[in-house]
Amino acid sequence: MKMQIVRAKDPEEAGRLAADVFAAVIQAKPACVLGLATGSTPLPLYRELIARNARGELDFSGVRTANLDEYVGLAPDHPQSYRRFMQENLFDHINIRPENTIVPDGLAADISAMCQAYEQKIAAWGGIDLQLLGIGHDGHIGFNEPGDAFLVPTHRTVLTEMTRTANARFFASENDVPTSAVTMGIGTIMAARKIVMIVTGRDKAEILRRAVCEPVRPRVQASILQLHPDVTLICDEAAAERLPQRNV
Ligand code: PGA
Repeated sequence: MKMQIVRAKDPEEAGRLAADVFAAVIQAKPACVLGLATGSTPLPLYRELIARNARGELDFSGVRTANLDEYVGLAPDHPQSYRRFMQENLFDHINIRPENTIVPDGLAADISAMCQAYEQKIAAWGGIDLQLLGIGHDGHIGFNEPGDAFLVPTHRTVLTEMTRTANARFFASENDVPTSAVTMGIGTIMAARKIVMIVTGRDKAEILRRAVCEPVRPRVQASILQLHPDVTLICDEAAAERLPQRNV
């Protein structure tokens, strides 16, 4: 296994360390393709990228981005859509070109055609150079939920109760959380040349241990990352509590 584990003292430091990896990739390849994620975990990273862009240290003018997932049924400007999340937490504050950012279309009339077109766009861009991931309490990456298989391409998925409960904090009630989503597949994610996974908080310590230390299996989708040749896991002290002391 090639997983490099980087320990940060808190989520802010994890965000800064992840920003260093992003900066290195962007500086080496100004027209790189970044795979991006939503949720609470990437927020310190996005704040740091915005700050570095504002200071003139990081240029996004050539960067392309593809997001991991989107809720089915939410319009791009819906307050809880992931397109809107990306606009508000990153894109509106950096010098990225709008046409260089893609997020799956949760309103597509033909979801499977949209999924295929999404894959084709990423391929036309030359594939993902750096993919950012968080992890769900059920071990999901993107919205690849626990199951009997690893689904390879971008696809529609039904959200687990655990995921809908976790994400209810952003909605008026759990009933308002969409029941399905579109997500990059495990194959899409594993094809990224480099992966950075950020995990923060004690509530993620046990699922992180299972993903990193137990055998690869689709019940814990993140465990597939053990097979990727270039994963950097950046975790804070709380999330790292149950990990071995050395790299795995
Ligand atoms: P979170 O979500 O960052 O809001 O905890 C992570 C995920 O569900 O992948």
